[in-house]
Amino acid sequence: MYSKKVIERFENPKFVGEIKNPDAVGEVGNMKCGDVMKIYLKIEKGKIKNIKFKTYGCIAAISASDAMCELAKGKTLKQAEKITHEEIIEKMGGDVPQIKIHCSVLGTRALRKTIENYKNEKNK
Ligand code: FES
Repeated sequence: MYSKKVIERFENPKFVGEIKNPDAVGEVGNMKCGDVMKIYLKIEKGKIKNIKFKTYGCIAAISASDAMCELAKGKTLKQAEKITHEEIIEKMGGDVPQIKIHCSVLGTRALRKTIENYKNEKNK
């Protein structure tokens, strides 16, 4: 079902874990499958200096989390907000089963939610 690239990323994710004293944390879940994605951000001068994830979910969700983090690292918050699930799929090797597309969408939702939390916290 999964391509070699998706499996490789699932087995060796580079961005899995937590960040101590993060600047922002965000969590989203998918009601249908029950998967949950949590993102930690370290932000410096408006850019994502570091990003980590903890995902309780399927192979595609974990692979998508890692691909999303790779895309987001080094980007400004504005650029990161614009990352699409199509870009995440491309980063995963471009070959994700149709029924697993929502796992990549969870990645964009998690990132946007974390950035939103950061902005809300800053504007308090
Ligand atoms: Fe729902 Fe993967 S099956 S995120």
